[in-house]
Amino acid sequence: MDHHQLFSLCSFSYIFKIKKHLFVSLFLLSLLIFSTVVVDVMPSLRIGLLSSSSSQTVTKECDYSKGKWVRRASSSSSSVNGLFYGEECRFLDSGFRCHKHGRKDSGYLDWRWQPHGCDLPRFNASDLLERSRNGRIVFVGDSIGRNQWESLMCMLSQAIPNKSEIYEVNGNPITKHKGFLSMRFPRENLTVEYHRSPFLVVIGRPPDKSPKEIKTTVRVDEFNWQSKRWVGSDVLVFNSGHWWNEDKTVLTGCYFEEGRKVNKTMGVMEAFGKSLKTWKSWVLEKLDPDKSYVFFRSYSPVHYRLGQFR
Ligand SMILES: *[C@@H]1O[C@H](CO)[C@@H](O)[C@H](O)[C@H]1NC(C)=O
Ligand SMILES: *[C@@H]1O[C@H](CO)[C@@H](O)[C@H](O)[C@H]1NC(C)=O
Ligand SMILES: *[C@@H]1O[C@H](CO)[C@@H](O)[C@H](O)[C@H]1NC(C)=O
Ligand SMILES: *[C@@H]1O[C@H](CO)[C@@H](O)[C@H](O)[C@H]1NC(C)=O
Repeated sequence: MDHHQLFSLCSFSYIFKIKKHLFVSLFLLSLLIFSTVVVDVMPSLRIGLLSSSSSQTVTKECDYSKGKWVRRASSSSSSVNGLFYGEECRFLDSGFRCHKHGRKDSGYLDWRWQPHGCDLPRFNASDLLERSRNGRIVFVGDSIGRNQWESLMCMLSQAIPNKSEIYEVNGNPITKHKGFLSMRFPRENLTVEYHRSPFLVVIGRPPDKSPKEIKTTVRVDEFNWQSKRWVGSDVLVFNSGHWWNEDKTVLTGCYFEEGRKVNKTMGVMEAFGKSLKTWKSWVLEKLDPDKSYVFFRSYSPVHYRLGQFR
């Protein structure tokens, strides 16, 4: 699955309200929909959708996570609705440009999410930009999170006549894959950021005198050191899951560490569970539930299969 698909599905703009008058379209909720596992993290933090905006008729209570994928009536109708951006969008990584790299079909762009029992209002970029004024929307996670961040950038930038106005705050190019990228919409005083962190917790050097097959460790009880940068954002979309397998950990010499001790028998799923607890403690301790909306997504369909980018 690729990023186009992820966001082309989100043809709606159900609005929910955030303190500070930041509003975000329900596309964010769709991020939850993509997760096969939605972690029910924190009753005290508001997750998901709340009140309506004045200008829109909002469907009554409806669980958007229950529904199915349906084909759009036709792809022309979707471009009329201004949903699509093309691969020329400057916020796309080269590797995420499917047609440029030889993909012939385009049916994968035509899916949308249909919740049971209600409809999702259409995505409206200018509306979302206006409602997000003076805000920060932050994605933290692996390449799937990055895909969705890029898609959101492309979708939002459609409402900006001069796209050159949007800039990365440190002047970094979109090809940068380490650390973070923070895109600024100057007129709206809005930043939309991506922070790379496939495991969310700390990846570090093993303790001294560790056997040499242990090259790095995932510290399941220590939250990412960059996390202080995420505090205070209005919307935080975390994702993790795809790196929690043996191929990306123990088979490459990356073991799990707890209490500053490497534990070579700890299983990957157990380590993932412990890390999520570490993440949850951080969320509860550091984030203000009246200020930040927090989303967590775990597994999504992967974008690699049989050696092909899909
Ligand atoms: C999008 O939102 C703007 C601002 O709220 C509104 O003026 C415009 O009519 C909306 N566009 C569509 C297609 O609904
Ligand atoms: C931009 O947004 C930030 C964060 O909300 C706020 O502190 C600052 O005053 C805003 N700047 C302007 C010029 O509105
Ligand atoms: C678009 O924005 C860029 C960057 O702010 C600016 O240099 C350029 O002159 C603008 N182009 C137009 C046509 O306004
Ligand atoms: C390593 O982790 C496993 C699984 O959690 C646990 O049973 C075991 O006690 C741990 N070993 C040490 C030395 O902490």
